[in-house]
Formats: sequence, C-alpha cells, structure tokens
Amino acid sequence: MTGPLFIITGASRGYGRTLTTLLAKSNLATQHSTFILVARNLDDLKTLAASLQTLPNPLKIIYEVADFSQSDLDPVASSVLSVIPLQEYSAVYLFNNAGSLGPLKRIRDQDAVDIEREIRINVTAPLVLTSKVLKKFADTVPKTVVVNVSSLAAVQPFDCWGIYATGKAARDMFHRNIAVEEEAVQKEQTQSSNGPRVRVLNYAPGPLDTAMQDQIRETMPDIPLRQIYIDMHKEGKLVKTEDSAAILVKLLEEDTYENGTHVDYFEVGPAKVCET
Ligand SMILES: NC(=O)c1ccc[n+]([C@@H]2O[C@H](COP(=O)([O-])OP(=O)(O)OC[C@H]3O[C@@H](n4cnc5c(N)ncnc54)[C@H](OP(=O)(O)O)[C@@H]3O)[C@@H](O)[C@H]2O)c1
Repeated sequence: MTGPLFIITGASRGYGRTLTTLLAKSNLATQHSTFILVARNLDDLKTLAASLQTLPNPLKIIYEVADFSQSDLDPVASSVLSVIPLQEYSAVYLFNNAGSLGPLKRIRDQDAVDIEREIRINVTAPLVLTSKVLKKFADTVPKTVVVNVSSLAAVQPFDCWGIYATGKAARDMFHRNIAVEEEAVQKEQTQSSNGPRVRVLNYAPGPLDTAMQDQIRETMPDIPLRQIYIDMHKEGKLVKTEDSAAILVKLLEEDTYENGTHVDYFEVGPAKVCET
C-alpha cells in the first residue's frame, strides 16, 4: 500500500515539532504515512519519534541528523534523501522549516563567517534539499507539495534582522520560482491536468512562542524593536505554535491556495476565521 511521505526539517523542537505532530494527526496522514524528521539534535528527534509512535495511526518514523550550517551541503541533503524508503508514495510533502536568526545586529557590525553560515542554513540548505526532492519525486509521485516556513521578515525589513530577513526573502522567491518552473514542466510533459503536479506555499507562521523568540528578547541590542517583542511576550501576544500549525495544516488540506503564494498567519488565522 502507498501512503504520503512527509519530510520536515527543524522537526526537533519549536514550530517544526508541533507541525509534525499536527500533520501526523491530520487528514493528510494515513496509516501508511512515512515521516522523515530532520535536525541536529538526535535526542529531541528520538523523543518526538517516540511520541508519534503512540498515535493510533501506525506511522513509519525515520529521523536523520543533519547540520545545515555545513560548508558542503550536497552530502548533507543526499543523506536525508538516502534514508527515505524505496516505495511508491501517494504524495510527498517537504517542509523547509529549519531556520536560524543568527547574530541579531546591524549589517555594519556583522562578520563574514556569520553571514555565510546563516545564508547556508536559511537559504542554501533548503534550496539544495528541495532540488533533490523535486528531482527524485516530482515526475513520478501524483502530488509533491513544498512548504516554506517563511516570515514577515521575508517581505518587511527589521532593524538588526538584516541577515535573517535577507535569507527569508530569498527563500520566498526561490519557492515562488519553483511554482512557476514546475507549472512549465507540467505543461511540457502532459497536455492534461491529471499528470504529476507540484504545489508550493510560503507560509509566514506569525511571531511564535519558541526558542527563536527567547533569542530575540535575550540577545538583541537594546533598540525599540526588542522592547516590542518583550512586551508581546509579557502580554501573551505571541502566537502558539499549535494555533499557527493548525492553520497551515488546514491550508494544505483545503489545497486551494494560489500556487507559490505567500500567506501570513494573520491573514488567515483564527481572528479572520471568526469574522467570516
Ligand atoms: N519564532 C518565530 O517568531 C518565527 C516567526 C516567523 C517565522 N519563523 C520561522 O519558523 C521556523 C521555525 O522556527 P522556530 O521558531 O521553531 O525556531 P526554533 O525553536 O529555534 O527551532 C529551529 C529549528 O531549526 C533547526 N535548526 C536550526 N539550526 C539548524 C542547523 N544548522 N541545521 C539543521 N537544523 C537546524 C533546529 O533544530 P536543531 O537545533 O535540533 O538542529 C530547530 O528544530 C524557522 O524557519 C523560523 O525562521 C519563526
């Protein structure tokens, strides 16, 4: 029997961990689902895998330790692909979720070593991994879905977030481009709309109550933006990972989003749902 394949980077903690759990409980996952969990921290991946095994749906869970800050990302991405069981899949979902804020300071104060590392984690790694996933599955699996966990910083600059925002903007454009390219490929390969298809979504999950926000409050220079995030945390205004991930899963289940688009949690989140 075939089922869907889910590859989630940055699954060990924070948003990726919650998203993985909700995906496993969602209508997207059947009992023949395979989950590939990717991050650096093996213990966290094992803990998540153990908790997924307790779900009523029997899932195949595989974890792979990968460090996206490595200078040669080809073997890193190849080893993620190498752990995927050889079988037929009904759909493939790749979540480019892993991300890093890097040192939060102005560009004039950044070091080249840090800039290069952050671009590898936030840009090169998802590009290389996505390229390999498309090569392997896009022509044969009925549906391939690539989700970029984006950010407001992809479309808006923030003081002291220059490296992170640059990475997020590049990632968004990369994913938008895949949507255009893969639609072109589909037109070339099949004259009908029933052939394999690739769907792409850039989803900005909102300001999440995760370690990334701890880093903002703890390490950012004392500028007005830092105080905004301290206040949001104090006032309980950060978004719960469960709420944001539930919206993303719903978008994927409905599958009506414009291919390659950027959707922000606040455009479609609970407040919006209540209004309509
Ligand atoms: N938190 C927010 O307010 C917010 C807002 C908008 C967008 N986002 C985006 O949401 C995504 C998840 O962020 P989060 O809030 O969950 O952050 P987080 O709690 O810091 O988690 C980051 C994840 O990325 C993985 N990761 C970090 N560096 C890595 C590396 N070098 N190689 C491989 N994996 C690495 C981490 O796993 P290991 O440490 O185990 O490797 C972890 O699973 C990111 O893309 C982030 O940009 C977050």
